[in-house]
Amino acid sequence: MLVDSVNELIRKRRTVKPKMMANRGVDLSIIQEMLANANWAPTHGLTEPWRFTVFTGDARSKLAEFLAETYKKLTPPDAFKQNKYEGMSKNAMLAPVVIAIGMKRQASRKIPELDEIQAVACAVQNMHLTATAHRLCAFWSTNVAAVSGEMARYTGLTDDDRALGLFYVGYPGDDWPTGSRQAIEDKVRWISE
Ligand SMILES: Cc1cc2nc3c(=O)[nH]c(=O)nc-3n(C[C@H](O)[C@H](O)[C@H](O)COP(=O)(O)O)c2cc1C
Repeated sequence: MLVDSVNELIRKRRTVKPKMMANRGVDLSIIQEMLANANWAPTHGLTEPWRFTVFTGDARSKLAEFLAETYKKLTPPDAFKQNKYEGMSKNAMLAPVVIAIGMKRQASRKIPELDEIQAVACAVQNMHLTATAHRLCAFWSTNVAAVSGEMARYTGLTDDDRALGLFYVGYPGDDWPTGSRQAIEDKVRWISE
């Protein structure tokens, strides 16, 4: 039954950080399928604002260096953490594929920026669910470097656009992780009159 499959897929989708990913490559045809499904996200005014830059191979080490240096540049000395800097200089090499997530602002700016960002989030969820169907996990990272103007420019976007983070994709190193959520009933109000 389709509904059972959808329920299972949505609930099985998991975040796994790069350091917990397996040392195993990902077939790029799966990444293509994830991107094709991202493209079917809902979009106000059909602006299709999602933009993706896919880093594989050696491009990941350049990305890692860029992230660490951008973190250093943007972080005041008293808030700077050496372990965070070192983590950033390694993370991209621990995942076989890293996808930079961007939002391209419509030239007329008619559609509100919030809607454009929400459309991109829908596209990322489509990617993550497609990854799950292939037994892949992922990690959406939104650290200071990953959402910076520097990151936007690094991926060919302009100051009108937004970098919305990095999406690390790989196979889990351990068993498939379990998730947890608080009850939905505490987050919903039903109004009928
Ligand atoms: C927009 C967005 C940004 C996120 N950024 C981070 C992040 O910067 N660091 C982090 O540890 N997790 C980040 N996450 C992932 C969450 O930690 C993760 O979704 C949460 O722990 C629930 O786990 P699950 O995805 O396996 O259900 C982000 C998730 C979303 C939707």
